[in-house]
Amino acid sequence: MSRKTIIAGNWKMNKTAGEARELARELSAAVEKLSEKDLPHIVLCPTFTSLPAVTTTLTGNKKLAVGAQNMDYRDNGAFTGEISAPMLLDLGVQYILIGHSERRQFFGETDLTVNHKLKAALKHKLAPIVCVGESLDEREGNLTDKVVAKQVAGALQDIAEQELESLIIAYEPVWAIGTGKSCDAEEANRVCGLIRTTINEYYKSSGKPGDKVPVLYGGSVTPANCEEQLAKPNIDGSLVGGASLKAGDFAAIIEAGAKRVARTPQVV
Ligand code: PGA
Repeated sequence: MSRKTIIAGNWKMNKTAGEARELARELSAAVEKLSEKDLPHIVLCPTFTSLPAVTTTLTGNKKLAVGAQNMDYRDNGAFTGEISAPMLLDLGVQYILIGHSERRQFFGETDLTVNHKLKAALKHKLAPIVCVGESLDEREGNLTDKVVAKQVAGALQDIAEQELESLIIAYEPVWAIGTGKSCDAEEANRVCGLIRTTINEYYKSSGKPGDKVPVLYGGSVTPANCEEQLAKPNIDGSLVGGASLKAGDFAAIIEAGAKRVARTPQVV
């Protein structure tokens, strides 16, 4: 059984609502040209302030889904500046990025907050994309496998195997994000495989839940390097930052995803 192919664009803190609406329109037109049966799952993650503009632009569009870049794990309350899962669902958001390395680096997120947010996403049926990955120092210190396994196991604390159905993980080595230095495809494939093994070892069940979890690669993904990454057996999709801000580049990455779907028909 093959896993879903997912191409997600993380727009980070870029684009006003008007600009976001325009990009959503351009992508919608580009995707229209592709054969529906081979389309990967496509997710656009604009800023909070652009979510209404993008979900409204894509109303009725079954090919492009919308995700948010972060959320609080509580549903409501005195938490000034925060946004909750029910608020996102109300706007038509279907996916949520959790624990992006920029959140971990600059906003104090830890494996524990990632775990809380993952539980909230699963409870509210927002499809979680949990981001993990090592820093340059950790890679140079041969700690990649240890760090990634710890982040994955940390995210999964007290979550039952049966709840994992919508879980997606993104392997994003910190040193590859926004640097133009993407991880070698073979090495990214190895770590994506390790993530799946870690999930299987965590649950120690015969069901091998890790084998069903889509694992994406992210970090300087471009139209030039995505095909090689997406040809690897353990890499089920791409989480794209910079290149997702240009309709032409992101459409080219979606096309590479479509080629993967054509080679490996999707489960859902
Ligand atoms: P990048 O960002 O593609 O610009 O490296 C990826 C990400 O941070 O998700």
